[in-house]
Amino acid sequence: MRTQVAIIGAGPAGLMLGHLLHLRGIDSVILENRSRDYVIERVRAGVLEQGTVDLMTSTGVGDRLRREGMRHDGIHLAFNGRRHRIDMAELTGGRAITIYGQNEVVKDLIDARLETGRPLHFEVGSVTPSRLTDDTPVVSFTQDGEQHELLCDFVAGCDGFHGVCRTVIPSSHLTAYEREYPFGWLGILAHAAPSSDELVYSNHPRGFALFSMRSPQVTRLYLQCAPDENLDEWPDERIWDELRQRLSTDDGWRPNEGEIFQKAVTGMRSFVVEPMRFERLFLAGDAAHIVPPTGAKGLNLAMADVNRLAHAFAEFYQSNREDGLDAYSDRGLRRTWRAQRFSWWMTTMLHRPPDESAFDHKRQLAELDYLVSSRAAMTSLAENYVGMPFDD
Ligand code: FAD
Ligand code: DHB
Repeated sequence: MRTQVAIIGAGPAGLMLGHLLHLRGIDSVILENRSRDYVIERVRAGVLEQGTVDLMTSTGVGDRLRREGMRHDGIHLAFNGRRHRIDMAELTGGRAITIYGQNEVVKDLIDARLETGRPLHFEVGSVTPSRLTDDTPVVSFTQDGEQHELLCDFVAGCDGFHGVCRTVIPSSHLTAYEREYPFGWLGILAHAAPSSDELVYSNHPRGFALFSMRSPQVTRLYLQCAPDENLDEWPDERIWDELRQRLSTDDGWRPNEGEIFQKAVTGMRSFVVEPMRFERLFLAGDAAHIVPPTGAKGLNLAMADVNRLAHAFAEFYQSNREDGLDAYSDRGLRRTWRAQRFSWWMTTMLHRPPDESAFDHKRQLAELDYLVSSRAAMTSLAENYVGMPFDD
């Protein structure tokens, strides 16, 4: 088998890269080790930046997003029993976020890929990129018990944090920066109409909580918990009791309750590897960087990476120029570190670490108080939250 770009991983990064390359007439093969159903049903992100929405719309995969996505012009920050609205659209010249589940994005991109007839292989095994310093790298893999070799010009490592691509780069070539947080998120989906039109991020003495949604019938909620929290200790009634305590505000607002149909615990870390390229292998999305979810940046960073990478490949194939490929890592790292800083800041401002001192908590509340009373501070949050333009 032979292709121009071998894409490893069919998450948002790999699928969007395949789509953007197709639009430019560039061949790719996408290899994914999980099943199609598993990839579609994996419940994760929900917040799309303006840049992600614009990219999907302008490349013809935004029809359902336009119909079913929920545009939000603002968010609320809750502390000391009160909710404070930040009007992001007003502060950023009309930019906003859209609520649309990552699994819906993935479903739309898989449909678009299948329509092109270009290869997308699920449930492949032992995916191994090699000969990355040659003009023709090879990706070997197994499918239905048979061994295959895919020859290509480039390999795109879009295989997430636990993928294989980062691990085949010689360690002498990489520097990793990492921070783990002493808490995680317990997330649920419930059949309950959202009781607020916009998200609510709450700093509460019992810990962080977040109100979000997926549709007019489905509420998405998160609770700060231990990184290794045991879900068996969280019957539904305990989850609702904790959410009620952490999210209810003095104006009588609280989330609506309903049947919980999905529950999971996620750990939290910040991680960056530099550079994002080794010879003919390019890392994109979670394969290269992880942010804690509080800033809602992970999926959006992945989209910005592959948008830049697709431009660079197009320049290479159309004009034989390599400057886009050469600049890919530096430009991506600049955006990544900005998102790292923002995600770390949102996380540390809103969560209560187990060893937090009374001083730390008072300082957090003073920071939130300043944030919601200063237009300059609100603007800084708003422009980071809706995201920098993609070609930045
Ligand atoms: P992934 O989605 O991890 O996709 C990688 C793919 O590669 C997977 O399908 C995997 O099965 C496959 N793969 C792995 N190894 C191999 C292999 N060896 N061979 C072949 N295939 C392989 N981000 C936001 O922007 N906004 C949010 O609101 C947000 N909320 C989040 C909430 C939660 C609870 C979590 C967990 C994450 C959240 N994120 C959010 C982060 C976001 O989900 C990720 O950043 C995003 O999935 C990254 O996409 P990706 O394509 O790079 O990686
Ligand atoms: C959602 C996830 C996030 O990480 C976040 O910051 C806001 C909302 C969500 O899943 O809806």
